[in-house]
Amino acid sequence: MDAPDLSVELAPRHKQGLRLRNPVMVASGTFSNGLEFARHHDVQSLGAIVSKGTTLLPRRGNPQRRTTETPGGMLNSIGFQNIGVERLVRDICPIWATWDVPVVVNILGDTVAEYARLAARLDAVPGVAGFEVNISCPNLDVGGIEFGVDPAAAASATRAVREHTSLPVVVKLTPNVTEIALIARAVAEAGADALCVANTIMGTAIDIEQRRPVLNRPFGGLSGPAVRPIILRMVWQVCAAVDIPVVASGGIMTWQDAVEYLLAGATAVQVGTATFVDPDAPWKVRDGIAGYLERHGEPSVTAIIGTARTFRRD
Ligand SMILES: Cc1cc2nc3c(=O)[nH]c(=O)nc-3n(C[C@H](O)[C@H](O)[C@H](O)COP(=O)(O)O)c2cc1C
Repeated sequence: MDAPDLSVELAPRHKQGLRLRNPVMVASGTFSNGLEFARHHDVQSLGAIVSKGTTLLPRRGNPQRRTTETPGGMLNSIGFQNIGVERLVRDICPIWATWDVPVVVNILGDTVAEYARLAARLDAVPGVAGFEVNISCPNLDVGGIEFGVDPAAAASATRAVREHTSLPVVVKLTPNVTEIALIARAVAEAGADALCVANTIMGTAIDIEQRRPVLNRPFGGLSGPAVRPIILRMVWQVCAAVDIPVVASGGIMTWQDAVEYLLAGATAVQVGTATFVDPDAPWKVRDGIAGYLERHGEPSVTAIIGTARTFRRD
């Protein structure tokens, strides 16, 4: 039997599409902009790289302490430290343009107008294969509540990016909502090519000796294996709600975790926190998926996507 076809299409409705050679991406904020990894790892063989969250102006991020381990995961409150879009265009995009692997730029704005400006600025820049729109930040247009918790605000951020780029647009949802399917539908109707489910889950940890939060802020974002069952459930729900591809992000440590997400309906997966534990994790996940398909006599990744959804209740 031929080796299984690992390739997937993330933007089937888009005129150029966003074809990945395999379904394994690296998650925003856990791989920087890929340059450090490129010194030691074969980054070209990934499905896609997602950049660090990029804002219009550079940000220094929050003061220390910004991360802490928790049972089965970690909390972070980095505060979107990044070099800003102008330096990204000047110093980083020209390097990406020489790479084979698609790089998707994760963008975030404080207002709808900022999302539009980021999309317009990066639209025709060589090296940028598409956008991942992070709608988990406070929407200053409406007094600081997250874009991603309100269907109308989530749709307007999506529309702003859609109208200012001809590149594929993936919108990354927040899990900090009651009904993620409502947000997913609003964002899909506003023109997203794909959805990423999901960003970190809000949590906290308290230093009992100091009697204060461990992080610099009361709350941080929880990631790692602890979140996986919750995000897996959300991926299932979002796949039932929309007919565009879904990218899963939440606690993928091993290839088995990735296969669970594919069977739940995800078209691709992102490896994030796992790379802090094992920098080879994304490649191990890719090889493990290939081995699983071979053992099960499956011709392709697409042959297994969503197949757990058709189970028969006993
Ligand atoms: C240190 C750190 C920084 C992150 N930075 C970003 C970011 O800039 N933009 C974004 O959309 N998500 C960011 N995330 C969220 C991850 O991309 C990912 O969605 C989340 O961690 C869940 O996946 P995981 O459990 O595999 O890490 C960050 C996560 C961590 C742990």
